[in-house]
Amino acid sequence: MKIVKNIKCLQEIVFQIKKKKQSIGFIPTMGSLHAGHLSLIEAAASENDFTICSIYINPTQFNDKNDFNTYPRSYETDIELLKSLDCDLVFLPNDKEMYPSNKSIVNYNFTFCMNILEGEKRPGHFSGVINIVNTLFNLTRPSRAYFGEKDYQQLWIIKSFVKNFQLPIKIRSCPTIRDSTGLALSSRNDNLNKEEKVQAIHLFKTLQNFKLNLESKSPKGGIIDLKKNSIDFFTKNSLIKLDYIEIIDEENFSFVTRIKKNIKYRILIAAHVGRTRLIDNIPIG
Ligand code: PAJ
Repeated sequence: MKIVKNIKCLQEIVFQIKKKKQSIGFIPTMGSLHAGHLSLIEAAASENDFTICSIYINPTQFNDKNDFNTYPRSYETDIELLKSLDCDLVFLPNDKEMYPSNKSIVNYNFTFCMNILEGEKRPGHFSGVINIVNTLFNLTRPSRAYFGEKDYQQLWIIKSFVKNFQLPIKIRSCPTIRDSTGLALSSRNDNLNKEEKVQAIHLFKTLQNFKLNLESKSPKGGIIDLKKNSIDFFTKNSLIKLDYIEIIDEENFSFVTRIKKNIKYRILIAAHVGRTRLIDNIPIG
């Protein structure tokens, strides 16, 4: 596996691959790799001639300095993990490479979806994500890029970015990988203590409870009642502070208060568990 830190070197390798008309599969990450990330790399390696993974903790997508400073970093373990997979190249740029002083940061706002839920709670977050993803797409020129459903809103916005700006890249979405308790794997889980880890499972349990009720033939109430129940539940739990729980229509990302047949929906949840903010989602319908 090639380890590349420099843009020029990356561009030269990409140029050679393209010259041979080979396909490139690309997985952008912020490192602290876990089985969720690895599932994306495996998916990319199975579909492409050449697989590139990037590891870069992108400062412009963090609206909270403390979150940026405490974001887990484990470059050496990450490289060892990638070596054990079919990853051909890891790109590890530094801030100067990605944000040279003469580069302007674009303020993207091409869909309403960038300003609700995660976008509302973390102002500027999605614009920062698009800045870095766009730069990485330009450098790696992938045929396919792989994103996890774990960050469902991010995936939706990236699909809409590629469509809006007519980029010749196929966006592949990969299912959320969970641990044996149901907790969605996340680099931020490293910051949870033992008790917080136990409490964090309530995010997935709440989603499942919603799903079971809404898909059952005799639901015990509508979306509004279910939302009220979960807000009550989390208010009583001193370790978890609920940020939101919402149901959206997957097609247009609009909020819904009623479920119709043959339409795909997502339940999305975000909560602070101790000092760590976690998100999760599952499909319904
Ligand atoms: P990061 O949080 O490192 O995630 C990288 C990719 O892994 C994303 O597409 C994310 O959805 C996916 N992923 C994370 N946890 C997962 C899980 N449990 N199961 C499946 N996939 C999972 O998302 C980012 O980095 C950044 O915003 C980035 C796109 C790299 C831009 O900086």
